[in-house]
Amino acid sequence: MLLDVADLAFRHPGGGGVGPLSFTLAAGEACLLLGPSGSGKSTLVQLIAGLLSPQSGSILLAGEPMHALGATGRDNLRRRTLAIVFQSLRLVSALSVHANLALARRLAGLPADPARMGALLERLGIAHLAGRLPRELSQGEAQRAALARALVTEPKLLLADEPTSALDDSAAAAAAMLLLDCAREAGAALLVVTHDSRLKPHFARAIALGADGRIATDTAI
Ligand SMILES: Nc1ncnc2c1ncn2[C@@H]1O[C@H](COP(=O)(O)OP(=O)(O)O)[C@@H](O)[C@H]1O
Ligand SMILES: [Mg+2]
Repeated sequence: MLLDVADLAFRHPGGGGVGPLSFTLAAGEACLLLGPSGSGKSTLVQLIAGLLSPQSGSILLAGEPMHALGATGRDNLRRRTLAIVFQSLRLVSALSVHANLALARRLAGLPADPARMGALLERLGIAHLAGRLPRELSQGEAQRAALARALVTEPKLLLADEPTSALDDSAAAAAAMLLLDCAREAGAALLVVTHDSRLKPHFARAIALGADGRIATDTAI
């Protein structure tokens, strides 16, 4: 398994959080994690990424125990294995699209690869925008740039947090297809967390999170 989450639970100081929950994700598998606002989806993304440490349970990522590593170990494991497309995109505002991608590769510890960067921008239909700053992009273009930046780090796992909440029906469907197609082409597993039930028909597997932060149903089981 690429990702093995077991009995994972986390509570924020205010009492909100996620879990306990367990699920696995195979290499290259795509899965939707659907839950209402406040059910703990973003908290789960941060736990998987090692940005938060769980209070109980375990997270094995590419066979390594994210939950048991110190801050430096978590940073290294995150860099080597996963990429996140945040709802807020978080492109570096002072850098061009091209420079955002180059920086992401460098931070992931990978050598510069202009050909790969060019091919990804081409694939996402934004090669002509490579020299633009994030503020010079439309929302849809910026989303594509954020996806390109995630994929240029050659992740084994691509996490997307609410990638479609601000989009109309046809744009949401297109964004879901783009995530699925690009993750498959890159050989990356994909976990999309969202409250947007419009995405369900696009995914072979869906995990439903209840308002209590536990798994209600998992269509793979
Ligand atoms: N940094 C934080 N500090 C305190 N409580 C938080 C924090 N982040 C999230 N929460 C709480 O944890 C619960 C789950 O939040 P979140 O993971 O953001 O849910 P979702 O992404 O599904 O909307 C909510 O009750 C939320 O208020
Ligand atoms: Mg969220």
